Parts: sequence; C-alpha cells; structure tokens
Amino acid sequence: MAASAAAAEVSNRRVTLKRYVTGFPAEDDMEVVAATARLAVPPGSAAAVVKNLYLSCDPYMRGRMSRHDEASYVPDFVPGEVLTTFGVSKVVESGHPGYKPGDLVWGMTGCEEYTLVTNPETLFRISHPEFPLSYYTGVLGMPGLTAYVGFFDVAKPKKGEYVFVSAASGAVGQLVGQLAKITGCYVVGSAGSDEKVNLLKTKFGFDNAFNYKKEHDLNAALKRCFPEGIDIYFENVGGAMLDAVLLNMRLRGRVSMCGLISQYNLEEPEGVRNLFCVVAKRIRMEGFIVMDYFGTYGKFEEEMAGYLKEGKITYVEDVVEGIENTPAALIGLFHGRNVGKQLVAVARE
Ligand SMILES: NC(=O)c1ccc[n+]([C@@H]2O[C@H](COP(=O)([O-])OP(=O)(O)OC[C@H]3O[C@@H](n4cnc5c(N)ncnc54)[C@H](OP(=O)(O)O)[C@@H]3O)[C@@H](O)[C@H]2O)c1
Repeated sequence: MAASAAAAEVSNRRVTLKRYVTGFPAEDDMEVVAATARLAVPPGSAAAVVKNLYLSCDPYMRGRMSRHDEASYVPDFVPGEVLTTFGVSKVVESGHPGYKPGDLVWGMTGCEEYTLVTNPETLFRISHPEFPLSYYTGVLGMPGLTAYVGFFDVAKPKKGEYVFVSAASGAVGQLVGQLAKITGCYVVGSAGSDEKVNLLKTKFGFDNAFNYKKEHDLNAALKRCFPEGIDIYFENVGGAMLDAVLLNMRLRGRVSMCGLISQYNLEEPEGVRNLFCVVAKRIRMEGFIVMDYFGTYGKFEEEMAGYLKEGKITYVEDVVEGIENTPAALIGLFHGRNVGKQLVAVARE
C-alpha cells in the first residue's frame, strides 16, 4: 500500500548510542529518546513498517558499541542513531508484495517502537504463533539456531560423549545442554550463581553443574566433573575457562567456538596458555557465525518446534517490560544479571 497524506504519525521512543564505548558499557552510553514514526512506506518502495513487540538483548551488540578501524562481521553502531537488534514484530504497512499488515515476523529491526524496514526480505515469517511470540528472540530465533548449528554442525556430537557448556543457563547455553541430552550425551554446565546452577540441574536436565565464581581452581572443578575428560566444549566465555578446558579435553575433542563474553569489555584480550593441548590431543577448535546458517532456518524451526511440543526442550526467559529499560537489560548481560534469555517486551500485540 502506498503512503497517503493521511498516514498516522505516532510516538516512537527509540534507543540510540550516545558515544562509542571502551571497557564495560554503562546505561549512560545509550539514550532513550522521544521521536515519531509515520505508519506508511515511501511511495513505490518495497519497505515495510513494523511494530516491534519484543527486542532481543545479545552479547555481540557490545562489539558494535565500539569503533573498529578494521570492519568486523557486523557494522559498528553509529552515535546518535538507533541501535539495531533482532526482534519480533508485526507488519503495520507494506510496499513489499510478500508482506501484508498483520503478518508476524522476526529479524533485524530497530531498538524502537516502530521501524521502517527497508529490506523486509531479510525477515523471517513466524510459522508457529501458538508459542509465546517472545520465543522468536530465543529458542525459535537466532540463539536457538546458534545452539543448534554450533552443537550439531560444528561439534558433531556422538551418543555417549562428554559435553561441557559455559554460560550454560543463558539464551544459547540452556539449549545446547538440552540438545546434548537429547543426543544421549553426558553434559555439565557452568554458570555464575547458585540459582543458575540449580536451574541447570533441575530444569534443563544437565547431569552436573558448578558455579565458576565459587571455584578457586577451574582445572580441579573440571577434573571433578569429568574424570574421563571432555569430548565437546561449547565455548561461550573464553579466558581462564578455555585454558582450563584445554587441559581436560580428550583425544580428538572438539571445541565449538561460539563466543568469548569474558573478553568483550577488555581493552587487551587475555592470552590462551594451553594451546599445545590442541596439537597433542588433535583437538579441533572451530568458530562459527550463526548468520551463515540463516538459510537453514526453516528446517531448524520445525525441528525445535517439535521438541517444544513434545516437552523435550524447555526455555527460560528473562523479560524486562518497556523499551526504556533496554539499556539496563543489555548491560546486565555483562554482569550475569539475566537468568535465561534476556529480552525486552515493547508491546504485547
Ligand atoms: N557465534 C554466534 O553466531 C553467536 C550467536 C549468539 C551468541 N553467541 C555468543 O554466545 C555466548 C552466549 O550468548 P547468549 O546470548 O546465550 O548470552 P547469555 O548467556 O544469555 O548471557 C550472557 C551470560 O554470560 C555470562 N557472563 C557474562 N560475563 C562473563 C564473564 N566475564 N565470564 C564468564 N561468563 C560471563 C553471564 O552468565 P553467568 O552468570 O553464568 O556468568 C551472562 O548471563 C556469547 O559469547 C555470545 O557472544 C554467538
């Protein structure tokens, strides 16, 4: 539908980056500003206006808050401009033949109430609205696909193998652990509080778990949990944990390099000391970026929806109400404040 002179203009609060960040980000590095949005697409364009319902808070957004001299795999945010993130949205107006008002989608959108999406073909349709729509920021969205491809495609698990997951109660980690159990693996997780450790054992079915903040010797903690060593490490944190894991890997083990959150706020990344283990134990360490697998999303969505329906996978979310609370929610990731997948509820319909 083309823009009309009578198209409604609505209030559109948005979250912008105030300045490039060094070190730990602070709420004050972002700003919630009042703006307006026109609920119409430019005449002749194939854009869509969407109403954002749920916005995702993801650790990789920290990287985008700094200025990089060399381009990374995603562009830096620009001070003064709205942040972008994965979100769940409802189409309000569309110049794109593939979308009509009322369609439910997830994909890259703005940290704001309404967004003019200029490339709606990048959005994914929501095929299972019977689940909470917020799941499309997590178990049925980007983090879910991350857990799935990082475990199955990169780590290539076999039944009976020993699997270790760090940041195990988070958006990605809780799913890796459950997928490992479905595969018939023995799985242990680490997390940063006793509450999270309890969740791992009682809700997500991990065989064992420990609070890494209470362990003085990570190597000893891993030896206690894996007397026979680790076949697969699903790496979410890096730093001292990676070093301790390398000492405990088994012959021909695999390390699925998903993320290194302990390094994201450091000016100088920490080194890895035990790399010779990779040689001696013939370990395969492999990084991946979920975006490379977006073409496989449809197959993943069906499989994960099946697991949810059968009760084989459960999912814990940490939902913050109101777009004005986005900066605090995002920063909380780097202090371990989130219990489960962190997201912001902007509107309920
Ligand atoms: N490769 C990809 O395509 C891809 C896609 C999505 C996510 N990722 C990566 O996957 C990892 C998990 O992401 P997520 O979305 O699932 O986040 P999340 O686990 O839901 O939240 C982040 C968690 O990281 C832990 N953490 C924070 N600072 C830490 C530190 N210094 N040392 C150890 N743990 C720390 C905290 O849990 P505790 O309380 O347990 O410390 C925090 O709750 C991140 O590294 C992220 O960058 C990669």
